[in-house]
Amino acid sequence: MIPEELFDYCVAHTDPEDELLAEITRQTHLKVLKPRMLSGPVQGKFLELLVKMLRPDRVLEIGTFTGYSAICMARGLRAGAKLITIDINGELEVMVRRFINKSGLEQQIEYHIGDALQLVPAISGNFDLVFIDADKINYANYYDLVVDRINSGGIILADNILWSGKVLAQNRKKLDKDTEAILYFNKKIAEDPRVENVVLPIRDGIMMARKR
Ligand SMILES: C[S@@+](CC[C@H](N)C(=O)[O-])C[C@H]1O[C@@H](n2cnc3c(N)ncnc32)[C@H](O)[C@@H]1O
Repeated sequence: MIPEELFDYCVAHTDPEDELLAEITRQTHLKVLKPRMLSGPVQGKFLELLVKMLRPDRVLEIGTFTGYSAICMARGLRAGAKLITIDINGELEVMVRRFINKSGLEQQIEYHIGDALQLVPAISGNFDLVFIDADKINYANYYDLVVDRINSGGIILADNILWSGKVLAQNRKKLDKDTEAILYFNKKIAEDPRVENVVLPIRDGIMMARKR
């Protein structure tokens, strides 16, 4: 949400993508629809460092896409810790598994294909960190599915919560369903006494909520 030149400055002063992340970015742009859904180097490094700081045992990601953010977060994990990542789009499976294998983190990344609304309740156990980055319409539903399964001190992150600025009425022509869902989600988190929260203006906006 910051001016492009300033964001370029942020990228230039953040650890650069390694070969694998650069390959994921390249292949996603070449072969996959809507490549702009990818996390970039700033968000990727932010996620990796956050995992290093939190030292979670179990991380859940809803919305794998081509694996960029999953690999970034898995790189931050301690030995024995796990990242579970879910995506509904089976067409990307071969590509994503190839990237996961190349990362050398296949023992720590559990990749599931299916609808997170059905899969999350079927996965047992609690989580220390959850990254919500799937369809915006269901953000509040994903939150409801996980909030009571987050350990105290655990974190829920949700991406794109500024929705290209459309959270402000002056930046949209009409109120579409996705924007409405994001507005509802942001209000819900800000008012939920179970968590304390902060909106981070990183890229398209990240909601960070910490379970009390
Ligand atoms: C914004 S992309 C994820 C980007 C990825 N986290 C990254 O940073 O590179 C959103 C993904 O959510 C997936 N998705 C949409 N609805 C879903 C659902 N109900 N269950 C699981 N995944 C879903 C889409 O298939 C898409 O790959």
